[in-house]
Amino acid sequence: ARVSVIGAGRVGSTLAQRLVEKNIADVVLVDIVEGMPQGIALDLMEARGVERHDRQIIGTNDYADTSNSDIVVITAGLARKPGMSREDLLKTNAKIVVDATKKALERSPNTILILVTNPLDVMTYLAWEASGLPTQRVMGMAGVLDAARFQAFISMELGVSIQDIHTMVLGNHGDLMVPIPRYCTVNGVPLTELMDTPTIERLVDRTRTGGTEIVNLMKTGSAYFAPASSTCLMCEAILQNQSRVLPVAAYLQGEYGINDVFLGMPCQLGSNGVEKILKLDLTDSEKAALSHCADTVRENIDQAKA
Ligand code: NAI
Repeated sequence: ARVSVIGAGRVGSTLAQRLVEKNIADVVLVDIVEGMPQGIALDLMEARGVERHDRQIIGTNDYADTSNSDIVVITAGLARKPGMSREDLLKTNAKIVVDATKKALERSPNTILILVTNPLDVMTYLAWEASGLPTQRVMGMAGVLDAARFQAFISMELGVSIQDIHTMVLGNHGDLMVPIPRYCTVNGVPLTELMDTPTIERLVDRTRTGGTEIVNLMKTGSAYFAPASSTCLMCEAILQNQSRVLPVAAYLQGEYGINDVFLGMPCQLGSNGVEKILKLDLTDSEKAALSHCADTVRENIDQAKA
C-alpha cells in the first residue's frame, strides 16, 4: 500500500515515520520546501536497518511521485502559535489545502483523502469539494486525537491503564467539541460511576483545550506526536479493512438533523473509507451542542470562500 503525505512538517514527517516503522505502508512525503522532504525521506530510509523494515519512503516536491496512492493525507499549511485560534489559519490554509487536493487527486483520482490541516472540519469540507470524491472517501482526523487526549486525562486522574479507557468525543475540532462522558467507560464501567461531575467537567474542559495547552507550553509549534499516531491509526484501519469504530470528521446527511457539513462522529472505517456512521441516542442538549458546532463550521466555510 502507498500513502502520500502532503506537508512534511512535524505532523507529516512523524506520520511518515509511524507508517513505515509499523510496516503499514510505503510513504511519499511531499512539501513545497525544496530538499526538505528529500532529506527527511533519506533519514528515514537510513533508519530502516536499525528499525528492521523494508518500507520505501520517497521525499519529493513533485506530485507525479504520488501517483496511485491508496490514501492521501493532507497536513500542509500553517500551525498555531500562542494566542492564535485554529480559525486564524482559515484563509491561508484553505488555499494551500484546495491546491494540494487538486494536485494529488489528478494523480490518484480514486484515493481516500484524510485531512489534518486546521481548522480541521472546514478544511475537510473544502478538500471534499475540490476533490470530486464521494463523501465516504473523504474524512478529517480530529476525533481520534481528542478522544485519546480525554483518555489520557482520565487515566492520569484515576491511575488506571489507558488501555482500559474508552472515550467518546463528537462535534468539531475546537473549543466547541462535544465529549460525551455518558458514553465513556473504564472497561465497561461507566465513567460517571467512577468520578464525580466536577471532576469529569474539569477533564472535559482540559480535553477541549488540549491542543492549546500544548501550543502554550511549546511556544514554537503545536502538538504532533499524538496527532501523527491518531492519523496513522486511521490509515491502518482503512488499509487493513479493519471495520474499526473511530471518531472521525465525516459528511453528515441528516444525522441529528444536520446536513452538508463534516463533523466528528463515530464511524466504521474500512477499505471504502467511512463505511457507516454509528447513530447514538443523544440528549437534547447534546444535539443542540452538535448543531452549534455545525453552524460554526458552516460560517467558517463561508468565510474561507469569501
Ligand atoms: P508544520 O509547520 O511543522 O508543517 C507544515 C508543512 O506544510 C511545512 O513543512 C510547510 O512547508 C508545508 N506546506 C506549506 N504549504 C504547502 C503547500 N502548498 N504544499 C505542500 N506543503 C506545504 O506544521 P504541523 O505541526 O505539521 O501542522 C500541520 C497542520 O496540521 C497545521 O495546520 C496544524 O494546525 C494541523 N494539525 C491538526 C491536528 C488535528 O487534530 N486535526 C493536530 C495537529 C496539527
